[in-house]
Amino acid sequence: QKVSIIGVPMDLGQKRRGVDMGPSAMRYAGLIEEIEALGFEVKDYGDIPINRPATSETQEGPLRNLDEVVKVSEELCKGVAAIEAEHSFPLILGGDHSISIGSIAGIRKSYNNLGVIWYDAHPDLNTEETSPSGNIHGMPLAVNLGIGHERLMNIGGITPKVKPEHIVIIGARSIDEGERQLIREQGIKVYTMHEVDRMGMTRVIEETIDYLSARTDGVHLSFDLDGIDPVDAPGVGTPVLGGISYRESHLALEMLAESELITSAEFVEINPILDNKNQTANVAVALVTSLLGKKLL
Ligand code: ARG
Ligand code: MN
Ligand code: MN
Ligand code: MN
Repeated sequence: QKVSIIGVPMDLGQKRRGVDMGPSAMRYAGLIEEIEALGFEVKDYGDIPINRPATSETQEGPLRNLDEVVKVSEELCKGVAAIEAEHSFPLILGGDHSISIGSIAGIRKSYNNLGVIWYDAHPDLNTEETSPSGNIHGMPLAVNLGIGHERLMNIGGITPKVKPEHIVIIGARSIDEGERQLIREQGIKVYTMHEVDRMGMTRVIEETIDYLSARTDGVHLSFDLDGIDPVDAPGVGTPVLGGISYRESHLALEMLAESELITSAEFVEINPILDNKNQTANVAVALVTSLLGKKLL
């Protein structure tokens, strides 16, 4: 069993600096040692080089830093596809959530009916028309559905990457009007915090596993650390109160590990500058080990 790590220190999908340090923060928190301790062979491909302009040169407009995001996404797509070709489990470290455009583009080459679990406070279903911010990190799920800017959708060649009925969003609690409309139109399955509270995480994950295993041939877990409550994961750029607890998140990933449903994963939006002694990266590393099958006994 092999796990291959690729870091994407990109913070261009939004305005706050610092989320580019996510890959270092996770490695510093012991990521590789922890995965090796579970018996996996780990290959670390290092970080994709990012050409980050000085803040004053940030490319403005309805799609902030589009050129560089496209370039990085293409590189990441190639890197992830190479890992897939080696039959190793791809583990991608963000960076802001715009990196999932490149990661899913690469993974999609190996699966015709790719499923995606979007664990996040936000659905990230904006387009340049509906985005309140112009930040590409609020758009990647729409892009992967085939809705958005052409240069972003064309990465990796195939578009759309995922079908709406192959997506499950878990933990949503900050949804923009355009996103709400898209969710209704496309019939996307969403467990908002209301459902998580009401049903409990156990049932949410049981249903998610049933739903996706029946219709997909692989499932990518896109884990935005802001899906977790800011009390447990304070180091994120867009915190939203009332999130999933650390404990519930462990349970979710332990159940996913038992199901053997997940074929690739990414952990995004860790911002060490806004964090409290690397707490959020430590949380992320603990969750990675749960996802890869760590048990207490
Ligand atoms: N919905 C807001 C926007 O479009 C926030 C998105 C936050 N996304 C994230 N990946 N943290 O700007
Ligand atoms: Mn997100
Ligand atoms: Mn988010
Ligand atoms: Mn646990």
